[in-house]
Amino acid sequence: MAKVNRQWILKKRPVGEIGSGDLALVETPIPALGPNQFLARTVYLSLDPTNRIWMSDMTQYMPPVELGAVMRGGTLSVVEESNHPDFKPGDIVSGIAGWQEYSVENGGQKLPRGQVPLSAYMSVLGATGATAYFGLLDIGKPKAGETVVVSAAAGAVGSIVGQIAKLKGCRVVGLAGSDEKCRHVVKDFGFDACINYKTEDVSAALKRECPNGIDVDFENAGGTILDAVLENVNLKARIALCGLISTYNAKGPVPGPYNFANILMKRVTVEGFIVIDFFPRFGEFQAEMAKWVAEGKVKHDVHVVKGIENALSALNLLFTGGNTGKLLLQLSGEP
Ligand SMILES: NC(=O)c1ccc[n+]([C@@H]2O[C@H](COP(=O)([O-])OP(=O)(O)OC[C@H]3O[C@@H](n4cnc5c(N)ncnc54)[C@H](OP(=O)(O)O)[C@@H]3O)[C@@H](O)[C@H]2O)c1
Repeated sequence: MAKVNRQWILKKRPVGEIGSGDLALVETPIPALGPNQFLARTVYLSLDPTNRIWMSDMTQYMPPVELGAVMRGGTLSVVEESNHPDFKPGDIVSGIAGWQEYSVENGGQKLPRGQVPLSAYMSVLGATGATAYFGLLDIGKPKAGETVVVSAAAGAVGSIVGQIAKLKGCRVVGLAGSDEKCRHVVKDFGFDACINYKTEDVSAALKRECPNGIDVDFENAGGTILDAVLENVNLKARIALCGLISTYNAKGPVPGPYNFANILMKRVTVEGFIVIDFFPRFGEFQAEMAKWVAEGKVKHDVHVVKGIENALSALNLLFTGGNTGKLLLQLSGEP
């Protein structure tokens, strides 16, 4: 019997939180392979806050996903059948095959087997790790002895940022949405302190935990967290603007930071960055990060949800704080 593919199709652009009719899970036949093509079975699908941006038509760094198209998503797949001379059954390939169980491909990045768990390529050794690495080191430029603040500290990117900042000799203060997450980042990832932004006065807590002020802010959240950071920045502070997750589900235009003037008064540098700009330097990151991981100096969490039918409820965990570490959807078994 011919294999059937299941795919999530974008039907409507969500307004606010993603609604049940915005995407649809459909079954489609798998087309026959042409020359130089291979059939890839998706093992892991990366679920990322930016998926919500791709569903919208706001100004963004890639074209929005078209209505009627398969939802875009980063993937790790195994080759099942091949007409391509460079890809054979059993090869592991990373790419952007989207929210579907199978895809017909003509290329991708082949990954080695057996060196690290495959999920590491979707987290600490993939785009997540690269975001933390380049965002902190190239944009934040931390120096030993400085104070670094990281929002979404128990998340995929934030947890790695904090550990790199510690390796560079900084004081590291995280922000997370529960006492349990705060305990985790201090105990397991070595942050010096962590503030539960849902229960504390964030500005007062930052004053307490950053007695010498904030030199580098790795900003994942935006909104009131960014405002509290701006109240506590030092002269010549750097803000590595990585994400604004507090605004991705907004129904309309979002106001800028209330404490915008402090950027002027404290001569702060705010620089947004997108990890894809650093892909030409991926080798540099992977060599150093793989060494840190092998030496146990950088740890990471993966949060795996199984089954393509659970894609939307899983994605929502990013916005409710239900995930700890890199959120992955597992669509089929590892080879
Ligand atoms: N610039 C780039 O190239 C790039 C690449 C990857 C990711 N990013 C950005 O990096 C950030 C983190 O992404 P990730 O993939 O590592 O996800 P993640 O941190 O693993 O998950 C998102 C976390 O954000 C926190 N959060 C949700 N709503 C929030 C709010 N209103 N205020 C404060 N925190 C909130 C939640 O943790 P709590 O329980 O702590 O609230 C949630 O677990 C996102 O802003 C994302 O867009 C940027």
